[in-house]
Amino acid sequence: MLRTLRSVMRFRRFETDAVKRRLARAANVDDLRRIARRRLPGGVFDYIDGGAEDELTLERNAAAFRRLEFRPRVLVDVSKVDAQTTVLGRPVDMPLVLSPTGFTRIADPQGELAVARAAERAGLPYTLSTLSTRSIEEVAAVSAGRKWFQVYAWRDRGLLREMLQRANESGYEAIMITVDTAVLGRRERDVRRGFELPPKMGLDTLVSGALHPGWTWAFARAEPIQFANVAGRSVGDGSDAVRLADYINGQFDPALSWRDVEWFQQHWPGPVVLKGVQTLEDAHLAAKAGVEAIALSNHGGRQLDGAPAPLELLPSVADAVGDRLEIYCDGGVRRGSDVVKALALGARACMIGRAYLYGLAAGGEPGVDFVLEHLRDGVLQTLALTGTPSLDALGPERVRWRDAEER
Ligand code: FNR
Repeated sequence: MLRTLRSVMRFRRFETDAVKRRLARAANVDDLRRIARRRLPGGVFDYIDGGAEDELTLERNAAAFRRLEFRPRVLVDVSKVDAQTTVLGRPVDMPLVLSPTGFTRIADPQGELAVARAAERAGLPYTLSTLSTRSIEEVAAVSAGRKWFQVYAWRDRGLLREMLQRANESGYEAIMITVDTAVLGRRERDVRRGFELPPKMGLDTLVSGALHPGWTWAFARAEPIQFANVAGRSVGDGSDAVRLADYINGQFDPALSWRDVEWFQQHWPGPVVLKGVQTLEDAHLAAKAGVEAIALSNHGGRQLDGAPAPLELLPSVADAVGDRLEIYCDGGVRRGSDVVKALALGARACMIGRAYLYGLAAGGEPGVDFVLEHLRDGVLQTLALTGTPSLDALGPERVRWRDAEER
């Protein structure tokens, strides 16, 4: 019996590194989300995880991917599978761009620096948010990789011009104008919790902090969090707790229009990406305006609840303007197979927000590496299993929609 037992028993070597131990238990992005939920105080997790109002759009972004199934071809030689392509005319190792997320340091003290370094290692462009907690220059100092800068339309155009100049001087390649935030969406998880940025250290936070000691210890030891790109400026740098809705509604210009896109094109020497296009009509206008790319996006379901899922918009938009600009699909991407589905429908690349934030919250910088590797493995595996040796061989015939009520 002893011999039989010995032959089947295998002990995993005990991993002494706590982060590696944590990540070793995760098989996918959903697992990282669960770990993040345990580690972060409730208000912080909900700020990252939540969406607007009834979160219909948040749910539909992901559900759209589940509604699309593959039509795999077999007996195709997939001994070599390649996910390389180009975005904005330059090569990437896989068709993925990291979306901008404001206030990244609430997930982990390294914040945007960790994400930018991981993106560079993975050979992917990283988009820094206007509302980042590490500055344009700080991020440029740690990453020689491709960097894009996301802009909101500040009412103060002088400040905006200055930011564009700083991004240009720091080697950022493109700007991404976010056009879905005329006012901030109503995020009711944040309303319910009275959530402010940075999270205020009241009694409830102290209690929550005791329940999430890892996060609280790291947060308390790090230097104070603020909107790093406007530190010390009269617009307010978030070092005093602010409700994001008050800040955005006070500082950003709801009068932004197509004429302003022209203004950006005049003041920025490189490519311009419009993020937040949600109809075929606006995709046509974007092509007419001559921007290099659009991101079909509803801000990850955080702005207008009831906005369409980007994946569902893709076929018509790709058909109409796919030959005039690049189209990115942003929202609900959690797996490599999701990326392949969007590409089959005509996207040039996908963008991810929460996926890397869950990784960052669960395991810091190695957590972001985990997510990017997981997505790359998923893309390559899906290409192999669908009989698609390279992205050139991928088209709409490789997928089909299931009925709405089926999963
Ligand atoms: C965002 N997003 C966002 N977008 C933007 O243009 N500027 C910003 O500052 C932010 N900030 C931000 C914070 C957090 C916590 C999240 C989750 C998202 C939206 C982001 O760029 C992207 O559009 C979505 O995250 C895409 O959806 P998924 O990938 O999160 O499902």
